[in-house]
Amino acid sequence: MAGNRTFTMIKPDAVKAGHTGAILDKIIKSGFKIIAMKYLWLSKEQAMAFYEVHKERPFYGELVDFMSSGPIVAAILEKENAFEAFRKLIGATNPANAEDGTIRKMFAKSVGENAVHGSDSDENAQIEGNFFFSRFERF
Ligand code: RTP
Ligand code: MG
Repeated sequence: MAGNRTFTMIKPDAVKAGHTGAILDKIIKSGFKIIAMKYLWLSKEQAMAFYEVHKERPFYGELVDFMSSGPIVAAILEKENAFEAFRKLIGATNPANAEDGTIRKMFAKSVGENAVHGSDSDENAQIEGNFFFSRFERF
């Protein structure tokens, strides 16, 4: 059920700072089930491809460099109204504007290095999950 799944990454800043366990704990305690998960280091080319929708934006180069600067955790998550519920849990793109208790408020450093990614639609959740995971890696 597409509407019940979303895609996330724990970004290099949060992995490097040792927040992987705390972020996964918060995600699971918030009612999301992990359907697929892997720990990997994106190449620059892979990061460019993943964020191709942003290629005209002024921050694209910085974003690609950052996302390929260290290992990440990628995961597919399941919950009712998954993408919306997860966007609520992570908070605003800029952690300075994120509500108390959100993952970005707790763990993000700046608008560029903001700890986690969350898909922004059912369609993108599916595209992004397919970017990282085959059918045989989802349980
Ligand atoms: P994400 O896709 O990572 O979940 O973040 P988002 O929807 O909240 O924000 P989006 O507009 O999709 O931007 C993608 C990522 O680009 C970086 N960014 N940097 N320097 C800047 O002004 C700026 N703006 C965006 C962030 O890492 C953002 O999450
Ligand atoms: Mg986005």
